[in-house]
Amino acid sequence: MNYLSPSILSADFKNLGRELEIIDEAGAEYVHIDVMDGSFVPNISLGIPVIKSIRSATKKVFDVHLMIDEPIRYIEEFANAGADIITVHVESCQDVKATLEKIKSFNCKAAITLNPKTPAKAVIPYLSMVDMVLVMSVNPGFGGQKFIPESLDKVREIKKALEEKNLTNVNIEIDGGINIENLARVLEAGVNVVVAGSAIFKGDTAENVKKFKEVMSS
Ligand code: DX5
Ligand code: ZN
Repeated sequence: MNYLSPSILSADFKNLGRELEIIDEAGAEYVHIDVMDGSFVPNISLGIPVIKSIRSATKKVFDVHLMIDEPIRYIEEFANAGADIITVHVESCQDVKATLEKIKSFNCKAAITLNPKTPAKAVIPYLSMVDMVLVMSVNPGFGGQKFIPESLDKVREIKKALEEKNLTNVNIEIDGGINIENLARVLEAGVNVVVAGSAIFKGDTAENVKKFKEVMSS
């Protein structure tokens, strides 16, 4: 099963509730929420109170991407705010295993991610502990950047490792620079959860979601 996870970083924050209703009604399964701390990445986005306040706008899965130093410190707060999936960066955790265990202890799905420069082997030891692996296809921090094509080799490498370990129920997500032109290629490489920000929220959002879903269900 494929899932679309529109990244609200590119949404109109003035009308966030309405934007959520639009992607929900148009058929997106997840909502991708980018949390940035100005330290792990050179940008600051939104945090716990915003997630709490938009939780009532949709029943869709909150896919929370933590781009923050030592996320273990805030897992409980994000879980209580309404996160369904919590993704942490392998580069930002001193103790990755403890961080993933903490996520699961709050009944959230746990996911691990890695920056474009980090090799796939950095996440291999954690594959049996996660529900999803997120492959970053841009350097995290900003929406609207150009897709790094080499990320697809990493997707294939991770997919192969999952198959070898009989972990084929682990989802593979991609994030950064995905658009209607490269979408088919990305799915072919083995991705089944697609994050898209600018390609969804620029122009007619409902129409964009439908176009993505069409490619993703064919
Ligand atoms: C980048 C974020 C992405 C971003 C994607 O740091 O993790 O989720 O919003 O935006 P697009 O799809 O525009 O590259
Ligand atoms: Zn993201």
